[in-house]
Amino acid sequence: MRQKIVAGNWKCNTTLQEGVELAKAVDALVAKEGAEDVVVVLGTPFTHITKVVDSVNTERIGVAAQNCAAEASGAFTGEVSAEMVKSTGAEYVILGHSERREYYGETSEILNKKVALALANGLTPIYCCGEALDIREAGTHNEYVVKQLEETVFQLSADDFKKIVIAYEPIWAIGTGVTASSEQAQDMHANIRAAITAKFGEEVAEGTSILYGGSCNPSNANELFANKDVDGGLIGGASLKAEDFLGIINGF
Ligand code: PGA
Repeated sequence: MRQKIVAGNWKCNTTLQEGVELAKAVDALVAKEGAEDVVVVLGTPFTHITKVVDSVNTERIGVAAQNCAAEASGAFTGEVSAEMVKSTGAEYVILGHSERREYYGETSEILNKKVALALANGLTPIYCCGEALDIREAGTHNEYVVKQLEETVFQLSADDFKKIVIAYEPIWAIGTGVTASSEQAQDMHANIRAAITAKFGEEVAEGTSILYGGSCNPSNANELFANKDVDGGLIGGASLKAEDFLGIINGF
């Protein structure tokens, strides 16, 4: 059985103090009311990870970095390595987010190095893919997303691929308030799962969690998560309010 996962992506938001308060609030709500079969992850800024790890019940809530370096260590000023992330107590790392691809020039080649280092250090990559609006409008989104995967995580061995989580995030839905319809999400998730089946076989495909991301909120989570190939969400804006995030966690 694949895992149901709801992961927050706080992006470049919250001071350390605000982040710790938010983590504590999520922790308290999840302990009291959170669906027990859902894995909850908080994707915090690097600066917050250690304190957030110390502030939540890590049996119940995992912590993610939002990036890691493409190099293991050395003279790379300002970079944070996968090994450093792992040493904080984080278990996950979000990689390949469209904002990193677009604003920081992260190519498939760079992402392959990051994924390899994350896996080598025992982190679970939450690997993002997704198309821009022009590609959706041209009707080539299915092929586009499969190509993104072929150039990157489909190059892993089946054993390594089994360790990753996929997040489908249509760029036109991120932070825009425009969510993919339930049907659009299911169609793409089925397309991704079929591509995983073709590459790694049915057992691997059935075991892979594929999350949806893009303007997911407590009102639309239920409809999105009801789809058979949607295994949860990667949540930006709505993960910054503990009650909204809980509403999404309980959206299955
Ligand atoms: P959003 O962001 O939920 O604010 O649309 C999702 C994401 O970028 O991970």
